[in-house]
Amino acid sequence: MRAVMNSVVEAIGDTPLVRLDRLTRHAGVEGTILAKLDYLNPGFSKKDRAALGIIEEAERAGTLKPGQTVVELTSGNMGTGLAIVCAIRGYPFVAVMSKGNSEERARMMRALGAEVILVDQLPGSVPGQVSGGDLELVDREAKRITQERSAFRADQFHRDGNWLAHYRTTGPELWQASGGAIEVFADFIGSGGSYAGVTRALKERDPAIRCYVVEPDGAAAAAGEPVSRPDHPIQGGGYAMADLAFLKHLPVDGYLQVSGEQARETARLLARLEGIFGGFSAGANVAAALQLLGGAEAGRTIAVVICDSGLKYLSTDLWG
Ligand SMILES: Cc1ncc(COP(=O)(O)O)c(C=O)c1O
Repeated sequence: MRAVMNSVVEAIGDTPLVRLDRLTRHAGVEGTILAKLDYLNPGFSKKDRAALGIIEEAERAGTLKPGQTVVELTSGNMGTGLAIVCAIRGYPFVAVMSKGNSEERARMMRALGAEVILVDQLPGSVPGQVSGGDLELVDREAKRITQERSAFRADQFHRDGNWLAHYRTTGPELWQASGGAIEVFADFIGSGGSYAGVTRALKERDPAIRCYVVEPDGAAAAAGEPVSRPDHPIQGGGYAMADLAFLKHLPVDGYLQVSGEQARETARLLARLEGIFGGFSAGANVAAALQLLGGAEAGRTIAVVICDSGLKYLSTDLWG
């Protein structure tokens, strides 16, 4: 049992690792999927780790001044993590989010004391499907507000605190909890922070571990594929950005593509068969692991992250 904590920030990380044997049996594949339940973090997503990592690095470097406003572009999860960390550490926080992300995310950030600014999607965009183009509009607004308020931009796509958090916590936790049994890691990328941090941590411990980047079907820019369908329902990532800073100079052993429908169906199976209530990207990660066990990595032990909670999608078509 963990000792009494001084704040909820100390409850970030150290999440359980669970075998998905019911799911693999149901799918008729050989091998093991180990799911890291990061939806059990205080903000119900893995991005709590990145939020804490970025704020701690900035405090250490002196780039974030006491009481300074923090601004971030977010699909909701990074903003929730930052809202929690900023509330505890005494920084006002402004979240800038696309209207295409689910409404419960904005409500949750407001409840945690954040100011939430919603940005219209591009004309013709579909609510619930945030494209790279929509994200550019949000980025422009986040830049404007940062300048206007002399704020600190958390900048999850560039600040090393993001991937370092996963390098220092998620990766080592995976290794330790599995007793060094992990042979493969697959991760649906947004900023690429968790892929970069976990991949570095795991390959340092065993260079033979193979790490796969997961992207939406039709938006696999990191894989070098033409982008034919930038809109997809897998919120939190799959922005079809070919030049993610954290992926530069980083080994990638393979690229996998998952459709929105596969992510949705797998998230539903995960809930029904394993009692794990994750979001779309959790479904994408597990669908990718099933793809690997059905092919190139049959019989292996594959680690994935359950990135956020299914509760964040109650207003979407994920749950009937
Ligand atoms: C639900 C969800 N899945 C996946 C990701 C992608 O994670 P990363 O930015 O570490 O690549 C995010 C990022 O915000 C997310 O919110």
